[in-house]
Amino acid sequence: MHMMAGPPTVLREGPTLRLRDLVASDLETLTRIWGDPAVMADMSSEVRTAQECAALLDQARRDAQERPRRSYRMVAVRRRDDVVIGTTAVDLERHRSAFSHSTSLLPEYQLTGAAVEGFALVCELVFESLNRHRLTLTCTVDNTAVERIALAAGATLVGTIPEYACKNGNWRDDKLFSLVDHQWRDSRLLKLVERQRRARGQRPPLALAGT
Ligand SMILES: CC(C)(COP(=O)(O)OP(=O)(O)OC[C@H]1O[C@@H](n2cnc3c(N)ncnc32)[C@H](O)[C@@H]1OP(=O)(O)O)[C@@H](O)C(=O)NCCC(=O)NCCS
Repeated sequence: MHMMAGPPTVLREGPTLRLRDLVASDLETLTRIWGDPAVMADMSSEVRTAQECAALLDQARRDAQERPRRSYRMVAVRRRDDVVIGTTAVDLERHRSAFSHSTSLLPEYQLTGAAVEGFALVCELVFESLNRHRLTLTCTVDNTAVERIALAAGATLVGTIPEYACKNGNWRDDKLFSLVDHQWRDSRLLKLVERQRRARGQRPPLALAGT
């Protein structure tokens, strides 16, 4: 399939970050993320080799060209210099649902608040750009950071799914969260991001091209 030349599609912009589609030059950073055992410890996927990272990047770029598009694998970059700080993905599902997965930041950008803004942009993409009714996400039972961010966005903890993912031959339980559009619109995370935008003199976001 023909890959678009030119600048990658920007899917959402926040106060300091943007979510954009992947480009070939993201491979080095994505290989650092997906090849790092510490970063991948809580993910449902195993650590990936350089070749697996390259194949996943190619697949994601092909998926981005599909119409209708069902799969959004993105990077989070700093608005000021386009430096990639992490990656995330959203898959569209039945019943106007979307599934958020594969969120990870490079180690040097963890504990900086970037994950909070990044997840707010995922919610804006899902509920505003893609007009979805529900977002679901899962995390390991002790991933406090993901749980706190999900709850701040208005999500409900549905429960624990036994034996959800198989890592290194062992099945592990995951927590499942459900976030409905009106819960997001009433959430403290949305208010926080709006405040941050106003403080920077930014207008509320318009839907961006390519969604
Ligand atoms: C998951 C991830 C994206 C979160 O990003 P982060 O930068 O670590 O998260 P933050 O520092 O912004 O923390 C988010 C919230 O969790 C809280 N938190 C983080 N670590 C915590 C801990 N160990 N104990 C208690 N609270 C914690 C923070 O205080 C913050 O809450 P607040 O906004 O109410 O203060 C990041 O840790 C990461 O990339 N991890 C590796 C991959 C991964 O596990 N992905 C998730 C797969 S589901």
